[in-house]
Amino acid sequence: MRRKLAAGNWKMNGLRADVAQVEALAQAFPDPGCDILICPPATLLAGFVPAGQGVVSLGGQDCHSATHGAHTGDVSAPMLADAGADYVILGHSERRADHGESSELVAQKVRAAHAAGLIAVVCVGETLAERDAGTTLDVVGAQLDGSLPDCVTAANTVIAYEPVWAIGTGRIPTLDQIAEVHDFLRARLADGAFAAHADGMRLLYGGSVKPDNAAEIFATANVDGALVGGASLKAADFGKIILAL
Ligand code: G3P
Repeated sequence: MRRKLAAGNWKMNGLRADVAQVEALAQAFPDPGCDILICPPATLLAGFVPAGQGVVSLGGQDCHSATHGAHTGDVSAPMLADAGADYVILGHSERRADHGESSELVAQKVRAAHAAGLIAVVCVGETLAERDAGTTLDVVGAQLDGSLPDCVTAANTVIAYEPVWAIGTGRIPTLDQIAEVHDFLRARLADGAFAAHADGMRLLYGGSVKPDNAAEIFATANVDGALVGGASLKAADFGKIILAL
């Protein structure tokens, strides 16, 4: 049985005062029936750990593939773990697009995350042009294959399907389209080197998940939770999404 996961990606949003959002979540869900994760900016991680009270896990939004060294501006996986993170998002489309991250680099980062004891949330997703061209499954399949190193297991990795055109747009795929990609990802895992982990691995949907569409998305086969951007910034909204899980 896969435990559901409600994950919030705050992206480049949040200041120290927003610890109140994490406190509110921890108070609202003292004994949640799912895993709750907030990935704030790295600057906030350590300060948010006490507020999570062991109920809300915390994660980074990226890490370097090296453990330390001359990499100005970067954060390593051991640093995230040291600050109290349990997870790290890797291969988000904004990293792939804004920082030219290849799947090969993402795989190196996943390896680094696992070495530091972190659970990797690996993102895949097609652009609108790729969907319109009918290449969605080719694109996400290639990203999946290329982004997973051989250390991946159901326990240390989560996959997030985030169509680029649904991120921050208020537009979501049809439920059939979500089901098609999630079924495809599960089957792809089952067919390859990760066959032993395919059934247990959690597959999240991300892209314009809101309180009013969460329940129908979560009712879709092979959707084990969500990776939420904008609607995770306020505990009231994110709480409604958690309740829909
Ligand atoms: O990683 C989550 C994200 O890309 C989705 O963002 O704002 O559309 O929920 P949003």
